[in-house]
Amino acid sequence: MCGIMGVVGAKDAVSILVEGLQHLSYRGYDAAGVAVLTDKGQIEIRKSAGSLDKLKSLLVGEPVNGRTGVGHTRWATHGAPTDCNAHPHTDASGKLAVIHNGIIENERALRQKLAGEGYVFRSQTDTEVVAHLIAKYLGETCDLHCALQKTLQIISGAYALVVMYADEPDRIYAARKDSPLVIGIGKDAGYVASDIPALLPYTREMLLLEDGDVARVTKDAVIVWDRDDVITERLPKTITWDQEAADKGEHMTFMDKEIDEQPDAAERLLASPLMRHAVPERVSFVACGSAYHASIIGRELLGRLAQIPADVKIASEMRYEPELPLDDTLCLAVSQSGETADTLAALRQSKRRGAKAAAIVNVQDSSIAREAESVQWMHAGPEIAVATTKGYTTQILSLLRLALEWGKTREVLSARDAREWEEQLNRIPGLMRETLADRDRVDQFATAHIAPRLVFFIGRGLDYATALEGALKLKEISYLNAEAYAAGELKHGPIALIENDALVVAVCTQSELTSKTISNIREVKARGASVLALCRKSDEARLKAEADEVWTLPDAPDAVMPLLAILPLQRLAYETALLRGCSVDKPRNLAKSVTVE
Ligand code: G6P
Repeated sequence: MCGIMGVVGAKDAVSILVEGLQHLSYRGYDAAGVAVLTDKGQIEIRKSAGSLDKLKSLLVGEPVNGRTGVGHTRWATHGAPTDCNAHPHTDASGKLAVIHNGIIENERALRQKLAGEGYVFRSQTDTEVVAHLIAKYLGETCDLHCALQKTLQIISGAYALVVMYADEPDRIYAARKDSPLVIGIGKDAGYVASDIPALLPYTREMLLLEDGDVARVTKDAVIVWDRDDVITERLPKTITWDQEAADKGEHMTFMDKEIDEQPDAAERLLASPLMRHAVPERVSFVACGSAYHASIIGRELLGRLAQIPADVKIASEMRYEPELPLDDTLCLAVSQSGETADTLAALRQSKRRGAKAAAIVNVQDSSIAREAESVQWMHAGPEIAVATTKGYTTQILSLLRLALEWGKTREVLSARDAREWEEQLNRIPGLMRETLADRDRVDQFATAHIAPRLVFFIGRGLDYATALEGALKLKEISYLNAEAYAAGELKHGPIALIENDALVVAVCTQSELTSKTISNIREVKARGASVLALCRKSDEARLKAEADEVWTLPDAPDAVMPLLAILPLQRLAYETALLRGCSVDKPRNLAKSVTVE
């Protein structure tokens, strides 16, 4: 969701800005633009709705050169994805350019006030308000630092802002609140970006801004002021990631690569230390999207393996529930990016209500990781495709490990059970490899079912969570009408939609529940649906007698099956999306890291 790139003092700012934006494009965007300070001391803007390729063509037609500039990929929130709403935005004089991630919540009131004072708006964005406000304070004999600070005191909401000003040509300013910003310290240039991958080609020395920070970046220095406008030291970190980890390599798409990386990610996670946290009395999960589905599995695992009661809340809904005390509760935020605005807000709300806070996160130094008291790292490596795959399975595996650890501490699991589980855990990467190897059956199935009118995913218990995630994957990237239902709920409404052209994917991996789901398969078959069933090898014969097609999975304990069952469903969504000509890594309307409410 929106990407920021800025550079000061480089030989060719434009190529750096465009390359940086390219690295950030995985976040999802619908417009792109750059502002460059030319050698004549003027700010020139090139921006357009649509893809980065459109911006590149614009730059070929109307080239611009300079050493300092800012660039942005926009995911529309305030105002449609048009050329005019694309960032950067300028003040009336054109001497000031602003780019922004996030939402300025008091935009409307500020816009009205500024319009009353004679400021003329050219876009519908909240960002333009910031440009005019800074210009207003610059007019009151402020320098850029002072004008920016005054503006930050007035605006409310979430932001990562980067500002350049023609009268202070050797610097750019960056400010953050609830939206990430990273400063890159290069040999001959300074950089700023919303995410680490954009800066990796230029430097590994990075400084991660904290909430409330304002930074002045020049080609050879960075000064940071904290939320009280006091100069503060933020120590640079050396990023050790391999650039390759953030590249596609041999794969056609990031999603393809990330599906294949899951066994390695699981191995890495199993070899890493487990989060240390006192065993909680009860757990309240907060999460969004796939992380919410992983949390449903976490709730079941904590109950089964550690007898810890848990509930799961969709983070965006939790924000509005009555603020009852949560004193004996551990709030466990689950988030690949660690930046999802709703999950962060739910974590903060839980803390205010007295809960302890822990998180399962992939991205180091992300906001959720910083605000949690304990963090379980997912060790998935950079995940670029918008639709999560290795993020999801490493979340589940993290939760399985935690449930086992707490089960052991609470003596719910005997020493013998615990030893057996150690062996089962170590088998997981191999079982995942075995499951992923069977690719042809998925390809053939996807080719035969390229445009079903309706796809239902059904399952019970842990299989219901897999059904939810399977349906989400398919709808996210192939835009098919896919929904998931707890199999027992079909008869309470959804079955009315079943006709001859419906496809039902029945997840039947839970030993005690398979017979029950088989009854549901019969119900939908009787009404004309075709059924694809996913089951363990040992249940193959039973399911073959019921379903039109059966995909088998290696035998493993029930608690491990969600880690295997989702793999062919990810692949099914992927192949279907490819066959339908959809943009797999960057599906329409979606963003990787949803940093707005
Ligand atoms: C977006 C992504 C989903 C992801 C969700 C939560 O909607 O497209 O794939 O599951 O955000 O993301 P998080 O980073 O908090 O796990």
